[in-house]
Amino acid sequence: MPCHWDYRNLRRLLERESFPAMIVDLDCLDENISNISKNISKTDKKIRIATKSIRVPDIIKYIQKKGGSNFQGLMCYSMEEAKFLSSLGFDDLLIAYPTFSFNDIEIFFSLTQAGNNIVLMVDCIDHVKAIERFWTRFSSDNNYKARVCMDVDMSYRPAGLHLGVYRSPIRTFEQFKELFEKMRGIENIEISGIMGYEAQIAGMGEKNPFSPMLNPAKWFIKYMSVRDVYKKRQVIHEYLKEENFKIDFYNGGGSGSQLSTAEEPWITEVTVGSGFLQSHLFDYYKDNKSVPAFCFALQVTRNPEPGFYTCKSGGFIASGETSLDKSPVPFLPEGMKMVSNEGFGEVQTPVKYNDSEEIYLGDPLFFRSAKAGEIAEHFQEYILIRNNEIIERVPTYRGLNFCFY
Ligand SMILES: Cc1ncc(COP(=O)(O)O)c(C=O)c1O
Repeated sequence: MPCHWDYRNLRRLLERESFPAMIVDLDCLDENISNISKNISKTDKKIRIATKSIRVPDIIKYIQKKGGSNFQGLMCYSMEEAKFLSSLGFDDLLIAYPTFSFNDIEIFFSLTQAGNNIVLMVDCIDHVKAIERFWTRFSSDNNYKARVCMDVDMSYRPAGLHLGVYRSPIRTFEQFKELFEKMRGIENIEISGIMGYEAQIAGMGEKNPFSPMLNPAKWFIKYMSVRDVYKKRQVIHEYLKEENFKIDFYNGGGSGSQLSTAEEPWITEVTVGSGFLQSHLFDYYKDNKSVPAFCFALQVTRNPEPGFYTCKSGGFIASGETSLDKSPVPFLPEGMKMVSNEGFGEVQTPVKYNDSEEIYLGDPLFFRSAKAGEIAEHFQEYILIRNNEIIERVPTYRGLNFCFY
């Protein structure tokens, strides 16, 4: 069935539910999986799912199964998370953020030893040494190599500016080469992949209605940095080719850069997370045409005056720079407006509504979160609907009693 959200039907479905409630429409999710797969697989690239942007194991599994051979492994955000996912049968786990935790490296070691395909991110020699120290202490057998991925900075830095995120210190090819050569000489380390995440393209929407004046500048930055990133990744690829050094994967991008990342010939896989469930921040990218596949319901518990409906709870604000677009947005019924000096509050969220639906105390109103994964920390389970009926409930990490960082 085509993706279609209908207020009255949702209200009927949730008659007996507790609130807040999170709803995922599988028909819409299917549409997103299919579009993303088409976008990326036409260039012969694979898709790596960013688990941080989902945080519900059954949904991750569902996407992977539905996407079939176009999908390749997971990008995890924590080692404890990778351990849990591996216990569920997931493999090919790339831990996207470096760690200095002894516990994490111990897990990394035991997962490797147990035969899991698990790769840890590094961007400096200290990261590598921390792994190596552990490895030489615990592995008497050199068969267990620590597989690592080098994170190369993809920020755009014209005229001394820094446009992008502050992550890896590997900014130039020379810096890449220096670390690469050092790592190559270390017996227990295997350089398995390269990652370059172009946040100023993949994480910045150029059609943002919350800051329209900045959109032309954002478009220009993105336009310029697509070329810059292309060259940066190409130089590394050519060097590896010259050296005859084979890597297992070259990872880039995110939901907001699917097309431009996939077009680079050397890229082997594109990471996508948020574009599956499609939180509202990802509506503001020309490269991402996903449809909303989830939304949360709050219950109207007060009617402070005609045309105002106050819901319980709702303050699910997303992380990052504290701008207006990090708030959820009204979804259904259409025509709801936020009360700007209250917004989405810790205990209540009022909305203004004067349109065609009759709203009564106890009714649900529906909203979309800014980001796709963090919101799962506020819910124990997601309610799955298909063909306008509830078909299943699946636990979030939080519902499974996990809290990963
Ligand atoms: C390393 C890395 N790759 C890819 C992504 C893209 O994820 P998404 O598709 O959810 O935007 C992110 C998001 O922060 C990231 O940190």
